[in-house]
Amino acid sequence: MSKKVLAVYFTQSGQLGEIIDSFTGPLAAAGATVEKLQISPVNKFPFPWSTPVFFGAMPESVLLVPAELESFQLKETHYDLVIIGFQPWFLSPSIPVSSLLQQPAFKAVIKDTPVVTVSGCRNMWINAQEKNKRLLRNADAKLVGNIALVDQHNNYASLVTILYWMLTGKKDRKWGIFPKPGVSDQDIRHASVFGETVKEHLLKDDWTELQPRLVEQKAVNVKYQYMFIERKAGRLFLIWANIISKKKKRTGWLVAFKYYLLIALCIAAPIILTVDAILFKPFLSKRIQRQKKYYSGVELI
Ligand SMILES: Cc1cc2nc3c(=O)[nH]c(=O)nc-3n(C[C@H](O)[C@H](O)[C@H](O)COP(=O)(O)O)c2cc1C
Repeated sequence: MSKKVLAVYFTQSGQLGEIIDSFTGPLAAAGATVEKLQISPVNKFPFPWSTPVFFGAMPESVLLVPAELESFQLKETHYDLVIIGFQPWFLSPSIPVSSLLQQPAFKAVIKDTPVVTVSGCRNMWINAQEKNKRLLRNADAKLVGNIALVDQHNNYASLVTILYWMLTGKKDRKWGIFPKPGVSDQDIRHASVFGETVKEHLLKDDWTELQPRLVEQKAVNVKYQYMFIERKAGRLFLIWANIISKKKKRTGWLVAFKYYLLIALCIAAPIILTVDAILFKPFLSKRIQRQKKYYSGVELI
């Protein structure tokens, strides 16, 4: 196969790099030329993070404020497929990835080109992907597929373990009690199955049925409770981001946001979800199905 594929991604822990390796394995095995590019911002984000820097990344993540990236040279000017590996930060594509998608030179590379997005996150990627869809449309790229790998553990366990992982850099079991953070090794290996599917469409150069097939294979799985939280939280984060980004002294505001977030996730969300489950959800099943189908897809409305 003489197809040229670019796989571009950002990663701090290496997790997304492992996902990209697994996912692109079948493409390379079939003879496609897979050029991998790991991008990096000029001003590095620390890993492990400190708490203030972690929450300090919220406004620019949410508002998609581009940061300068280390310059890079691509081997080609055009590819048959571009794979974009991203991680959500505060329900938005991470700053390095949103910066890349706004770079004029990169926009020229993905113009009129099939793009597959691949993410590795805790469990909330829907809003970030909607923002990606808009950025890709602005670049005249053709989003043909999306794969979202998540931490399959319970929402509260994964909240504890992601903070532990991000703030210590250790991807192991906190106190020997909590599950291992992040996407499981098994799910990372399984990403090659989705790579196989993408390979078949690359060979045919026909992308029409790719995303429905990926949905069937559970490459994306929109869960109601996360969709519900994201739809509400996305709007609230935007309000916080707009307020904080205008402040000269941000520290107090960011501390307030941190507590707001923890209270919203741990106390408000379970109460609101319970009320919703009793009063609204049972009567909205058609609308919920429609929304799930939309977020599983690659269209933008
Ligand atoms: C600042 C920050 C914000 C994050 N926000 C989210 C989020 O909104 N939703 C989510 O599912 N995961 C979130 N995560 C987890 C990341 O998406 C990702 O899984 C993790 O950072 C590991 O990615 P890596 O490959 O860059 O190491 C966040 C991580 C960081 C560092």
